[in-house]
Amino acid sequence: MAAKEAAVGAEQALRSHIIETQEAVTPVVLDAMSRAPNARLTEVMASFVRHMHAFARDVRLTEEEFELGLDALNRIGQATNDSHNEAVLFSDVIGFSTLVCLLNNGQNGATETAAALLGPFWRMHSPATPNGGSIIRSETPGPALFANCRVTDPDGRPIAGVEVDVWQASPVGLYENQDPGQAEMNLRGKFTTDATGCIAFRSVKPAGYPVPTDGPAGDLLRAQQRHPYRPAHLHFLGFKPGYKTLITQVFVDDDQHLESDVVFGVTRHLIGDFRLGTGPAPEPDVEGPWYLFDYVFVMEPGEAKLPAPPIR
Ligand SMILES: [Fe+2]
Repeated sequence: MAAKEAAVGAEQALRSHIIETQEAVTPVVLDAMSRAPNARLTEVMASFVRHMHAFARDVRLTEEEFELGLDALNRIGQATNDSHNEAVLFSDVIGFSTLVCLLNNGQNGATETAAALLGPFWRMHSPATPNGGSIIRSETPGPALFANCRVTDPDGRPIAGVEVDVWQASPVGLYENQDPGQAEMNLRGKFTTDATGCIAFRSVKPAGYPVPTDGPAGDLLRAQQRHPYRPAHLHFLGFKPGYKTLITQVFVDDDQHLESDVVFGVTRHLIGDFRLGTGPAPEPDVEGPWYLFDYVFVMEPGEAKLPAPPIR
């Protein structure tokens, strides 16, 4: 009987949009939103409303919890500025960024993909650096790293002229824009693949780092007793008109947090091979242990477009 009354209530509400019962809210809202000229907007918002309403019913959301959620959203906005993007970080720590990345790459997540999440720290204008050059722009501790990367198409043919952005945290666990101790654009560079599809550069072996925990993302991690660490990685963004922009990360294989990345970014495909060098290093000024890193990136034909930079 109650279900029948609810159905009648919903039907009446659809005619007048006067809400008689909680069940009536969803169809009324969907009806109100159903006439947008933009069909994709209608589709996305209808699904969003259905899932949000179902979520509130599923957990019997209390008014205090609703306030808490709104406060968190507001604080995500307030914590975002030119050098930090809390919205990206929050999406990352709930696995949403990785989900969207996998849905849009590697045939809707059905196959392995070379793509990984962009993260909150990409900057648009990394300094152009000649092949073989260093991205160390101020005194940076850590073992030297000599990287040799190749970009090919899906058939293994080299792609020349790909602009490859590289960025990484310093071994103290901070990107240069988070750390006044590092020079502007330290550990960032933009390389262009040569006729054989290769780029080469010198850096330092990356170290793992904690994501910033002073905002709502950190509050959530503490409440869930999760550690804030990312396994050490290098970020790459490959761009060439005619090819789908490749956004990815490659992880250091001996990192203790490889299997518990706080932002769920590690796939098998993206675990790199970082080899301890033997004998004299490629450059004479290297002291102590040094590492070699080789990796092949595959870019698919498609549309080249750059993401909006999460920070300036
Ligand atoms: Fe990173």
